[in-house]
Formats: sequence, structure tokens, C-alpha cells
Amino acid sequence: MTSPDRITAAVLASFDGCPDARLRELLHGLVAHLHAFAAETRLAEREWQAAIRILTESGRLTGDERQEFILWSDALGVSMLVDALAHSGAGGATESTVLGPFWAAGSPRREYGASIAEQAGGTPAWVHGRVLDLDRRPIAGAELDVWQNAENRLYAVQDPDAPEAHLRGRFRARADGGYAFLGVRPVPYPIPDDGPVGRMLHATGRHPWRPAHLHIKVTAPGYRTLVTHIFDADSPYLDSDAVFAVKPSLVRRFAPRAYDDPERPAGVSGDWCSVQNDVVLAPGEG
Ligand code: BEZ
Ligand code: FE
Repeated sequence: MTSPDRITAAVLASFDGCPDARLRELLHGLVAHLHAFAAETRLAEREWQAAIRILTESGRLTGDERQEFILWSDALGVSMLVDALAHSGAGGATESTVLGPFWAAGSPRREYGASIAEQAGGTPAWVHGRVLDLDRRPIAGAELDVWQNAENRLYAVQDPDAPEAHLRGRFRARADGGYAFLGVRPVPYPIPDDGPVGRMLHATGRHPWRPAHLHIKVTAPGYRTLVTHIFDADSPYLDSDAVFAVKPSLVRRFAPRAYDDPERPAGVSGDWCSVQNDVVLAPGEG
């Protein structure tokens, strides 16, 4: 009879001739750990068949508007583990966090201070700061790609009733590194939990909620691309983010501002809030 150890050894040996050393290393590691997982848990045939059905359903659900595999990566903490391995904290640079499944290419370019809201709703939030290098010198021309959810909890890519560009935009830092835009105060929301990831969360007694946040992706030639969030300090779920993505350095206070505050941005008539957030980029590429 073929023993479990001999099966694992045979599969590992099958990659010995792989000419790409890194691919060989990855496949060796994957097979070794996957086989060890099956052996340690004494994985039953019906359990492995169920896992394959779950992966098949995840594939069927995934397309332009839904990415169940990113959700698996996020909900199992793999996204944040890979992030931690890639960014060991370059002395003073802003910390990164998950991209998530709701970024979309081609957000409209908008002017300094413009609103990203294409329809009414939510508390206006003036988001401003500077893009700086590690010596706190401005990075003029850096591009900030921002996206966030609306008061109905949905991102535009999830909401068939919202304009495509709602609460999304790309901005350029000015000569002094300054950027500003008018968004809305983000609200906590559940990650999509009507598919296999949601069933895993419910079956294990986990909740699907993320604390309120805005997303920012910052790019500039000669600097490492930064994918990060601004978390609202007053939000619930900061201690139990469903995707493990909160870093204390990314939490900011959204200061309430009255309708008659002299700094009230153009186009705002009622109460609003503001959040200050400098972004520091590390040198590098991509
Ligand atoms: C998000 O923040 O948009 C997000 C991140 C991970 C999973 C689901 C949503
Ligand atoms: Fe988000």
C-alpha cells in the first residue's frame, strides 16, 4: 500500500526538474504544506469534495463585479500576511493595507478640492493633507486614486443605482505636495457575505463587518506604490475588522464641523467634517 509519506515525496520529486527555481520552491512549499494539512487533520474524502465544490462556486461567482477569491484571501488573513512580508516598515513611510475587491481602474481625474460625490447623501467630509518623501519633502505630481463607500454602505461598483464614478476619483498633488477632496464620511459595512466566504464566516461565528474607512492608492515615479486606508477613529469594528486590515497608524479623527464654519468647502450647506492625513512614500519602484 502507498503510504501518505511516499505520496508526498513522489509529488515533491516530480518538480525537481522544474527549470524555474522560484516556481519549484513555491510548488514544493505548497505541496508540502497542503499534504501536511490533509494528514494532520485526517481530511475526509467528503470534506475534500466539499472544499472543491466551494472553490468551484467561488470561481463561478467571480467576474468583473465580484471577486470571491480576493475575499477568501482577505477573510483568511492571507492578504495582510503577504502585505506584512512585503512591507516591513520602511522607516517612517505610511503603512499599507488591503486593496480589497472594490478598486476599479479608470476613475475620473478631478481637480484639487473637487467633490467625488456624483449624487447627494451622507455627511460631507473634507479630506486633505500632503504627499511627502521620507525627509518630509513634497512629492509634487503624485497621483492619489481614492474610492469609498456611500451612506447606503455600497461602493459604486456594487450599486447598480449609483453613477459609475460615484465616490471615486484621481487627484494630483500640488507643488507643495498638497491634496484635497470632498468625500462623504464613510460608514462601516459588511464584506459580501452571500457567497462561500459569507457561509464560512457565519458557520464559524465570525461577523462580516469592516470599520468605516476611505481607500487611497498613491503612485509617483521613483517611489513605491502605496495602497492604504484612512480609518475613522470613531467607528465600531476597529478591533475586529473582518479582514484584519486595521493598523493603528492609519486611524484618523474625522472632526465634526458646523455649517457656519468659515472653512466650509464650496457646495456644502449643512454640517460637515474634516480629516487631515499626510501620506509618506518610500523610495523605490512599483
Ligand atoms: C474593502 O475595504 O473594500 C474590502 C476589503 C476586503 C474585503 C472586502 C472589502
Ligand atoms: Fe473598503
